[in-house]
Amino acid sequence: MVALVKATLVFALLGAAVSSETFLEWTKQHGKEYSSKAEYEARADIFARNLQYIERFNSEDHSYELAENIFMDLTFEEFSATRLSTPQNCSATHQPTRGRVLTNKTPPPAIDWRDRGVVTPVKNQGNCGSCYTFSTTGCLESHHAIKTGDLLSLSEQQIVDCGQAFNNHGCDGGLPSQAFEYIRYNKGIELEEEYPYVGRDETCRFNSSEVVATVSDVHNFTQGDEDSIYVAVGTVGPVSICFDVTTQFQFYKHGVFSSLLCHKDSQHVNHAVLAVGYNVTESNEPYWIVKNSWGADWGINGYFWIERGKNMCGLADCASYPIV
Ligand SMILES: *[C@@H]1O[C@H](CO)[C@@H](O)[C@H](O)[C@H]1NC(C)=O
Ligand SMILES: *[C@@H]1O[C@H](CO)[C@@H](O)[C@H](O)[C@H]1NC(C)=O
Ligand SMILES: *[C@@H]1O[C@H](CO)[C@@H](O)[C@H](O)[C@H]1NC(C)=O
Ligand SMILES: *[C@@H]1O[C@H](CO)[C@@H](O)[C@H](O)[C@H]1NC(C)=O
Repeated sequence: MVALVKATLVFALLGAAVSSETFLEWTKQHGKEYSSKAEYEARADIFARNLQYIERFNSEDHSYELAENIFMDLTFEEFSATRLSTPQNCSATHQPTRGRVLTNKTPPPAIDWRDRGVVTPVKNQGNCGSCYTFSTTGCLESHHAIKTGDLLSLSEQQIVDCGQAFNNHGCDGGLPSQAFEYIRYNKGIELEEEYPYVGRDETCRFNSSEVVATVSDVHNFTQGDEDSIYVAVGTVGPVSICFDVTTQFQFYKHGVFSSLLCHKDSQHVNHAVLAVGYNVTESNEPYWIVKNSWGADWGINGYFWIERGKNMCGLADCASYPIV
């Protein structure tokens, strides 16, 4: 027993020594600075544990791989607190799609709306639970571009500061469907450069003279109806989706994300993103191509692939897009 404890201790110290240099390098690479030696050591410890987790995960057989990234010095709890929403209740979005026939076109076997020049570059939400505002602007940017030919970058900060009456909570989370409702009733949204992102709650300073894009109606998908999302992404345009992020996702690098740990229900969605396409892998595994808002260094140049056809992590439980 004692020998075992000692061996574990030696191993742990050895592990710490090996990763302390890696950690130092990582802090330089990401321009990280800590306020005290104690903080540095605590972060080094979390880094080492995350590194171990990633290495173990990658040594196993999975459909995707993890890699170290800018979130290496955060525990999942810290990561959740700063990057994810508190779980949102999607029930208002649940009712069956009201009498609107999507389209009579047949979706193609694969599509990527980036190829058509209607998707803006990946943005970065920073330390603010504003993912839903990025999912919303991303989706509206694309639908506006598909309709008008003009690809504009729209203001997330306006939704953070001004969308509260529609059950959105600034940096504490919200839902794309509710943010589309806000833009619809507000009669528009400003440009990113007119109302730039600061990543914290501020006073609303919307100026109606600066409106560049509007929403005439909101299409909510029936809970779990992934087939209709497929038809919409294949024939209409990108779709805002929400899902439950669990610990592996923090360090996703590439491949088809799939998880047994996440919830598949509408009470647990804590992250909103944008489905911009779909395809199948060489081994015929269907996946969604999804734009995230954690910067272009995360995942596949800021994007990720997630398993399609299984309501993975509840991704079909809270989906919507604006009609412009
Ligand atoms: C979610 O919202 C619906 C309708 O707005 C409500 O009936 C339900 O009780 C809510 N659920 C939770 C867990 O808050
Ligand atoms: C879509 O969902 C939002 C809230 O999530 C709700 O306010 C709105 O009424 C719904 N729209 C339609 C057309 O069902
Ligand atoms: C789908 O994936 C294949 C390779 O697996 C690729 O050749 C093709 O361009 C992709 N289609 C789209 C629309 O991205
Ligand atoms: C609103 O925008 C218009 C047009 O750019 C500008 O002339 C006006 O000063 C702005 N109003 C405020 C309160 O900033």
